[in-house]
Amino acid sequence: MNKIKPGEKKTITAHAKINLALHVTGQRQDGYHLLDSLVCFTDFGDRLTIKPVENGLDLVKLDIVGPFADSLGYQDQEKIKDNLVTRAAMVLAEEIDKAGVACCNVHIILEKNLPVASGIGGGSADAAAVLLLLVELWGGEATPDMNDLAIKLGADIPMCLDSRPKRIRGTGELISEIDLAVSIPVLLVNPNIPLSTPEVFAALGSKNNPPISENELVGFEFPDSLVNSNEAAFVDRVVDTLSALRNDLQDPAVSLVPEIRDVIASIRQQPGCRLARMSGSGTTCFGIFGKKSQARAAMIQIKEQHRDWWSIACSTIMADTQKSSTNHHDQRHFDDSKQ
Ligand code: C5P
Repeated sequence: MNKIKPGEKKTITAHAKINLALHVTGQRQDGYHLLDSLVCFTDFGDRLTIKPVENGLDLVKLDIVGPFADSLGYQDQEKIKDNLVTRAAMVLAEEIDKAGVACCNVHIILEKNLPVASGIGGGSADAAAVLLLLVELWGGEATPDMNDLAIKLGADIPMCLDSRPKRIRGTGELISEIDLAVSIPVLLVNPNIPLSTPEVFAALGSKNNPPISENELVGFEFPDSLVNSNEAAFVDRVVDTLSALRNDLQDPAVSLVPEIRDVIASIRQQPGCRLARMSGSGTTCFGIFGKKSQARAAMIQIKEQHRDWWSIACSTIMADTQKSSTNHHDQRHFDDSKQ
């Protein structure tokens, strides 16, 4: 791997997360909830840039720019120091230092494109992205185990290290890959109202709900009978599968922020929408569409109807079929021209 040199910079995307389904199946003695969730990531997200600097005062200097920089207190040095991106960089530097390797000073720029505290995992994705960038700059022989490091920073961070579709169980630490081998057009919509995750869990009445059954997951495997057919047929199967699943946090979130119901109704009304649901603990909701062009048209429509809402049309990142042992078909990208 070529190291980034002084004067050079490198930028990567910190992909937004969508909980396609989120079942709450129990609660531990310590109050944490047991989850069974299907997660995928979108090609849209925050952007993280690193630039090694030769003459800086600080090991890590973080600047936050972009449409949601304000929500992170980009002008407040205390908040910048406490940001998960700064903390992730410092924890990695400590590990590399323990291995006796010196870390050069670095300027990090976080372009905050995702709404904060909104159920799409922006903070965790930012932390994962900065770890990936800095390990390339500082790591070499001294590279620590990235999963161990990520879990120390937060339960949701390990799953963001590769942005592939996953099933998440336990309190978030049990991660397995799922065979979702298609890129799905989606629309994300947020009413610009943040919601605190603990408040949503506290408003959840029933903590012991059924998990996702193995039978239901079969709908995510690309069957041989669909080889050579249109990707839309596979998305139909995925939507059928998801329709039988739930987000158990949706009703408690709606009880706290009733606007979420309007967001879901607005997405559902758009031509081509196959399914609309809330992600995570809210307030961002997603719609699955048959075509990218329909998701884009829906975004334009919703922006016109609700000028105070945030929305973006994007696509999900599919499973890495090269690594998959069960599916040997080619990777499937959505191409509107074929439909
Ligand atoms: O993982 P995150 O930091 O977003 O969690 C925020 C809060 O959500 C936790 O402090 C806890 O109150 C609640 N939570 C939970 N069970 C989980 C994950 C989060 O009760 N599995």
